[in-house]
Amino acid sequence: MKSKELRQRYLKFFQKLGHTVIPSASLVPKEDVELAGTQRVLFTTAGMHPLVPYLMGQPHPGGKRLVNVQKCMRTVDIDEVGDETHNTFFEMLGNWSLGDYWKEEAISWSYEFLVNILKLDASRIYVSVFAGDSDAPFDQESFDIWRKMGVAEDHIFKFGKGNNWWGPVGPTGPCGPDTEMFYDTVGGPKNGEDPDNNNQRFVEIWNDVFMAYDKQADGSYKELSQRNVDTGMGLERILRFLQKAPTAYETDVFAPLMKKIEDLANTYEVRSARIVADHIRSSVFLVSDGVIPSNLERGYILRRLIRRAIRHASLLKIDADFLGDLTKIVVKTYGDFYPNLVESQDAIIDSLQKEEQKFKRALAAGIHQFEKIAGDISGHDAFDLYQNYGFPIELTIELAVEKEKQVDVKGFEEMFKKHQDLSRQAGEKTKGGLAVQSDKAAKLHTATHLMHQALRDVLGNHAHQTGSHITDVRLRFDFTHDAKMTEDQIKKVEDIVNEKIHDSLKVHKEVMPKAAASQVGAIGLFDDKYGDLVNIYYIGAGDKIEDAYSKEFCGGPHAENTKDLGHFKILKEESAGAGVRRIYATIE
Ligand code: ALA
Repeated sequence: MKSKELRQRYLKFFQKLGHTVIPSASLVPKEDVELAGTQRVLFTTAGMHPLVPYLMGQPHPGGKRLVNVQKCMRTVDIDEVGDETHNTFFEMLGNWSLGDYWKEEAISWSYEFLVNILKLDASRIYVSVFAGDSDAPFDQESFDIWRKMGVAEDHIFKFGKGNNWWGPVGPTGPCGPDTEMFYDTVGGPKNGEDPDNNNQRFVEIWNDVFMAYDKQADGSYKELSQRNVDTGMGLERILRFLQKAPTAYETDVFAPLMKKIEDLANTYEVRSARIVADHIRSSVFLVSDGVIPSNLERGYILRRLIRRAIRHASLLKIDADFLGDLTKIVVKTYGDFYPNLVESQDAIIDSLQKEEQKFKRALAAGIHQFEKIAGDISGHDAFDLYQNYGFPIELTIELAVEKEKQVDVKGFEEMFKKHQDLSRQAGEKTKGGLAVQSDKAAKLHTATHLMHQALRDVLGNHAHQTGSHITDVRLRFDFTHDAKMTEDQIKKVEDIVNEKIHDSLKVHKEVMPKAAASQVGAIGLFDDKYGDLVNIYYIGAGDKIEDAYSKEFCGGPHAENTKDLGHFKILKEESAGAGVRRIYATIE
């Protein structure tokens, strides 16, 4: 079974059981999720992540049963990529009950899907249940259900919190005991092996979490007002078994990419090839979700992925311009299911190639600097290479290994953390959207939308919002763009906005399905508070959204007509970090 069919079968199976199919959220988590009791997490790490507010009790417009395929990114094991099992990007198939069905349905449907639909060998399925501790009792109910499904007692493991408890995503939030399903890669008697001491033999394929608790800041567990089921099945993991592939790299989501890397390589080494494949796939998805390589947070992870892929491509002696070729293969593999990849293919290639140019320039200067360091590399040296020459820590380590030097990684990490904390504090001060909801602020908000579109007209469609803050006197707008704007560009943007103001365009609001909004080309920071339905503000001469000048996802408030805005003026244009520009503007 191909990946495409697996996604379809899964969605259909649960749709028939009353689940609403919801789209994959962005890899970049939304703020409302961050605020709902979880810590700031750089990327979406599980299907439940964008659903935290609903797991905490907010009603979801899709109802109480949801199903989707979610793009996920986990970077804790980034250094392990290259082995047989670790990937940074992956897809999670998930179904949810928001205060609706409970263990009996969840477990029996999981089992039915694995055995009847995917036709996995039932004798190779093992499961585990929560053994119980002082916070929550042994999960007898799940144990009994598995027995009833026909799973033999010696195929059921019992583990504690370390294995059979999932969540919360951050320090607090929804969590609970889980029951996990494993596929036995060997077959036959298990000779005392278990997933805890030998997880090479038993590969976890699916996890049904019974979220009955809300972990508190003091470490205690409070029962949730509603009991939820959160499940997650790793698409790449299950594909391995469906396609009888030794690792995910031989399945149809990776094989064309691996083949191309092999073709381009002048010397082949499987670990490097896998690193290139994994990191390029992740980078393509990250850029398509609006992440730009930089030295901070998400941007830094992306930078590391791209630079590490380039470095391993050079170890494979790939001379050709491989970033474009490999991006196209990723887009071809996934474009059917994630159409925004197709739309942004050129922009993705452009972003990756720009980063390659930057890296090449930095590399020469950085290696020169590296060679000047006498003896081992201190934390300070490594941080200097990172800060001033854009060297990801892995690169410094790899170069050090070649020269038989040590790197004080801990020292580097301490300096790195301090730097990130300071940057974050600076960033938090600038958050907050509409600080003052006055009449003037509403007008400035409308001017912001006009300017956003005007920036795209003048600079190109890569320019998109990363932040906005409006007070009673001015707007401030952050957007992605690689260079300082010229005076001419600034003037052009001002002229367009003033022309639109002069044209007395009406400001309309419409609530519509997200997919339809994307279809008409709505831009802006996606606010999926309403699940599938989103607010679109559009500004145009007529009433038709298709003909409008500006279309944006937005919560408002706005002016009713652009004629009320007055004269628009850009006060200042400056850098707001790598690849991000900031404009201050006002209306008079
Ligand atoms: N949220 C659960 C997991 O990621 C399903 O395993």
